Amino acid sequence: MTLLTDIDRVRAEFDNRLAAAKAGKEDAEQLRHAFLGRKGRVAGLFAGLGKLTADERPAAGRLLNELKDHVAQCLDDLPAGAETGGGGEEEALDLTLPGDPVPLGSVHPVTQLQEQVKRIFMRLGFSIYYGPEVETEFYNFEALNFQPDHPARDMQDTFYVGENLLLRTHTSNNQIHAMQQMKPPLRILMPGRVFRNEAINARSHCQFHQIEGLVVDRNISMAELKGTMTHFARALYGPDTRTRFRPSYFPFTEPSAEMDIYWGLQTERDHRITKGTGWLEILGCGMVHPNVLRAVHVDPQEWTGYAFGMGLERMAMLKWDIGDIRYFYEGDLRFLRQF
Ligand code: PHE
Repeated sequence: MTLLTDIDRVRAEFDNRLAAAKAGKEDAEQLRHAFLGRKGRVAGLFAGLGKLTADERPAAGRLLNELKDHVAQCLDDLPAGAETGGGGEEEALDLTLPGDPVPLGSVHPVTQLQEQVKRIFMRLGFSIYYGPEVETEFYNFEALNFQPDHPARDMQDTFYVGENLLLRTHTSNNQIHAMQQMKPPLRILMPGRVFRNEAINARSHCQFHQIEGLVVDRNISMAELKGTMTHFARALYGPDTRTRFRPSYFPFTEPSAEMDIYWGLQTERDHRITKGTGWLEILGCGMVHPNVLRAVHVDPQEWTGYAFGMGLERMAMLKWDIGDIRYFYEGDLRFLRQF
């Protein structure tokens, strides 16, 4: 009897396609339509019942009803994802959902400022040089013409990490390393972290960042130093920035100066941060002391130079109106995300 074999064949076909639907390769709704629809496979088999004899009909009818129940049950049991048109897992992707945010972070304000300063000096032909943070007294003090009894050498001001080993208190140690490694003429910029044994509060910290500059060449004059520093101030703070130089003292430069920029006296804050003068000190500088050149075997009769150094946190605090230096090192995202 061919109807019985047809029933087996349709059942086998359904089971195959059901497996495909579970794997997401077949649309569950289409499957339901193909087997249980008005003109579907199961209805076609039922139509064949009429051609059977009265004896054959009950058994075949029972088998057919079983098949119909099997198909209906299996389709109802398909997981919801597979039912919703198109084919399983792939189609279950909702392309209208917003994507997962990728946390990118931001560049630290001190790093940003450091990059700006580097760019300004690189345009003037300076190269970048990095030296060590752990240093001997020779590089941090002695070669820079600090006398043995200079107060900065005191443990109270300097972190010693061993006998004759300390954390550099300024980036000027790089001047000595650079001149030992490279012969003049030189034009170099030396950024780095420095350490001082100071109480931590809103205005001072035991670590901060400096950028050091050093130029050594023939016929370098104080005029070139002033011109370069003034150019730098205008490149960083705007073309109308006014500068002034005040005499100062550093053991490793002679003469020495501090450069102020005119900040203004418009607001109460201007009065506060400029102590009522309108002027703000931004860097120390001077002509390289002949003793420093001698310490690295450069002849001061032939070569002259200038050096400068600035504190990055202080400049960043002014630029972005940051009231407390400790924010820079706390890693608080609410602070860092603003830059
Ligand atoms: N090293 C000095 C400081 O820490 C800054 C400076 C550098 C001054 C170079 C003159 C020349 O304050």
